Amino acid sequence: MDAAWDRKYRAARSNALSKRFGQSWLALACGRSVMTVTQVNAKAKRLQQLNKLNRPSYIIDEVQLIENLTRCQSLQSRYPIQVLLAMKAFSSQTYMPLIKQYLSGVSVSSYNEARLAHESGAHPIHCYSPAFEQGQFQALLEMVSSITFNSVGQWAHYKAQVNQYPAHISCGLRINPEHEEVKNPLYNPCGPRSRFGVTINQVQKSDFKDLDGILCHNLCGHSSHELERTIMSIETKFGEYLSQLKWINLGGGHMLTRDDYNRTHLGQLADYLSDKYELDVYIEPGEAIVYEAGYLVCQVLDIIDNGGLIAIVNVSASAHMPDVIEMPYRPHILGSKSAGKTPYTYQIGGNTCLSGDIMGEYAFESPLQIGQPLIFTDMAQYTMVKNTTFNGVSLPDIAQLDSHGNISPIQAFGYESFVSRLP
Ligand SMILES: Cc1ncc(COP(=O)(O)O)c(C=O)c1O
Repeated sequence: MDAAWDRKYRAARSNALSKRFGQSWLALACGRSVMTVTQVNAKAKRLQQLNKLNRPSYIIDEVQLIENLTRCQSLQSRYPIQVLLAMKAFSSQTYMPLIKQYLSGVSVSSYNEARLAHESGAHPIHCYSPAFEQGQFQALLEMVSSITFNSVGQWAHYKAQVNQYPAHISCGLRINPEHEEVKNPLYNPCGPRSRFGVTINQVQKSDFKDLDGILCHNLCGHSSHELERTIMSIETKFGEYLSQLKWINLGGGHMLTRDDYNRTHLGQLADYLSDKYELDVYIEPGEAIVYEAGYLVCQVLDIIDNGGLIAIVNVSASAHMPDVIEMPYRPHILGSKSAGKTPYTYQIGGNTCLSGDIMGEYAFESPLQIGQPLIFTDMAQYTMVKNTTFNGVSLPDIAQLDSHGNISPIQAFGYESFVSRLP
């Protein structure tokens, strides 16, 4: 895009938005740069509906989800690559019928995920787990089309059972090319003493004899360039096995639905593997599939001042958005700015007793009011699948926002969801 035109275009988009909805909605315009002014206006109008909610709620943005899925589908139609949804990031009976229309299947990591996928009609189901449980393995065989083992020991343990199963199940081994792209040890699957996958020193030629494929997952929120380096490391370490395999799964961590992701480069990398080694190429992103397709709406419960303003809201970073604490990162709130940018800067904190249950420091254009809604963005990934009722806090409801701005309830949670998991 021509730089001058791009500047003019962005300015026009921002003007249209601020005229219509005021400064606080401008943050929206900074999101997906390929949106037209009309699209930004339509999105802002839809999102304004979220201000009407008076209960904590995760909101799935159907329009954004379809946009992400369309980007994946378009990639698949142009290059020899199959995109699977990693259900660990987002598991949903409601959305599986939609998702399966666009993607090439799902990737599951447990009996429960496999069953949800199976009962929702997802197909094919690819399965990997750090270690399979004997008691659930036979049931898994009835649902999945491929199984990736984490170690040579697990493969040896289950090989006979897989071979005895009447249908063909394609088996693979997770490899660790010892190539590190993730800096944070919490998310780095290839660091020293990693428990994920086999290093080249842990395998012998004979281990690959009856295997169809390999899985390598070493990325987290990365671009195609980190993937290219990863592929080079796989070739360096495991190159001699690639020609005898049928497929390679390049794991998750690819931000392929972002505007700045080079999907052509990703496609070319798939082309390369497909041409050189005749491999079927899979990726299994989770985050990218629901990127920016979810919101967490909460309300301000109290405002206190202890050397600075603090707003307590009716959701919790620890219970409802745990990656904020684990990663850690500061989630965006619609209409907010960085701390100190306006006189109305607040620390936003959750409703549990964990001292560190804090989302971050945010500046607003006017003072926050008790009861006022706050809308956290990008809250579909790794939230509903991970949330807890720690402190007895309620789970936020789940609802859908459609293209007309209608909000339809999907799930509501009450006392039952708290007590049913306790002794
Ligand atoms: C084996 C495997 N595949 C796929 C994923 C999905 O990764 P992401 O949500 O970052 O795309 C993960 C995430 O931890 C993973 O461990």
